[in-house]
Amino acid sequence: MENIKIAILGHGNVGGGTCEILSQNMQLISERIDKKILVSYILVSDTKKTRKWPTLGAKLTDNFEEILNSDVQIVVEVLGGIEPASSYMEDALKTGKHVVTANKAALAANYPILTKAAKDSGVSLLFEASVGGGIPALSAILGNLRGNRFSEVSGILNGTTNYILTKMGSEALAYDDVLKSAQELGFAEADPTADVEGIDAANKLSILMALCFDKYVHPDDIPRKGISHITLDDIKSAKSQGKKIKLLGTARLKDAIHLSQNAENAKLADKASEIEYFVEPVSIDDSHPLFNVDNEYNGILIRGNAVEDVMMYGKGAGPLPTGSAVVGDILKIAENL
Ligand code: NDP
Ligand code: HSE
Repeated sequence: MENIKIAILGHGNVGGGTCEILSQNMQLISERIDKKILVSYILVSDTKKTRKWPTLGAKLTDNFEEILNSDVQIVVEVLGGIEPASSYMEDALKTGKHVVTANKAALAANYPILTKAAKDSGVSLLFEASVGGGIPALSAILGNLRGNRFSEVSGILNGTTNYILTKMGSEALAYDDVLKSAQELGFAEADPTADVEGIDAANKLSILMALCFDKYVHPDDIPRKGISHITLDDIKSAKSQGKKIKLLGTARLKDAIHLSQNAENAKLADKASEIEYFVEPVSIDDSHPLFNVDNEYNGILIRGNAVEDVMMYGKGAGPLPTGSAVVGDILKIAENL
C-alpha cells in the first residue's frame, strides 16, 4: 500500500486531536483510501514536553526547515497565530507541498497570498476546520451549493463565546469561570481575547465571504463587537423575555429580500451587489433558527437563490471535532495524489 507522508505543524488541541483520530481510525482510513497516512514530522516549540496525544512515531522537531526540505507531501498547519504560520504555509505551497490548515487567523489575514501561492504551484490549500470546527460547511459551499448566488451567510461562528453565553444563561455561572472552563476543554484560542472580542468570528466571516461572495475583506475591516461587556444581568433580562444572546457573524447583500427562485427577487439580487457585514451580539427569540444552538456548537445559515435556506449545525471547537475536519482534508488530498 502506498504511503502518503505528512507533517503536522503543532501538537496542541487540534494537532493532538488530529493525531488521535489518525491513531484510532488508521486501519479504517487506509482501507477507505487504499493508502497509508504516515506522519513523518510534528513541529512543536518544545520537543522535550510530555505529550498527551499520540505522536504516531513521528519525529518531533522545532525546525520547520527540516520539514520544508523533506519529502513530505502534505503539511498540516495547526500552530495558531498569523506568523510564523502564514510564512510556513506559503513556503510549503511554493515548494509544491499541499497544505491543510485550521488556522483562520493566518488564512483570513493572508487569504489572497496563500490562495495565489497554491494556485501558482498547482497544489491544494484546504481549510475546512478553519470555520465551524467539525461542520463540513466549506465543503458544502464549494461543493453542491456552488451553483447558487448567495444572498446571506450568517451564524454562530465561535464555540467559546457560545459556550460562555450558554453557561451564563443556564447555570448563572460567572463569565471568568466559564471562560476558564472553555480554555480547559480546548475550545478557546491561545489568547482568548480573539474569542471574546469577536476577532475569531470576524476571521471566519472573512473566509466565508471569500467563498460565498467571491469578495475578500480583511478581518480588521469587518466591524465587530464582542461579548466581554455582557453581564449576567443582560443575559437574565433577555431570558425573562424568552430570548438568548448569541454572537452572530453576518454577511448579506444590502437590502436583499430573501432570494428565492422568484424572478423579481432574482433581479433584485443582481442589483444588490453591495454586501454588508458585521460581528455582534444579538438577542434572538425561539423563532430564530439559531436559538437552540448552544454550548460549543456552531450553526451556519446560508441563503442561496436556488437552494433557499440551508442550516448546518455541529461542534465548532474542540480537539476531536476540529481534528475530524482536518483529517477529512488530509484524506481528500491523499486520495488524489
Ligand atoms: P494550541 O495552543 O493548543 O497548540 C499549538 C501547538 O503549536 C503547540 O503544539 C505548540 O507547541 C505549537 N507551536 C505554536 N507556535 C509554534 C512555533 N512558532 N513553532 C513550533 N511550534 C509551535 O492551539 P490549538 O491546537 O487550539 O489551535 C491550533 C490552530 O487551530 C489555531 O489556529 C486555532 O485557531 C485553530 N483552531 C482551533 C480549534 C480549537 O477548538 N482549539 C478549532 C478550530 C481551529 P508546544 O506543544 O511545544 O507548545
Ligand atoms: N476558539 C475557536 C472557537 C476555536 O471557540 O470557536 C474554533 O475555531
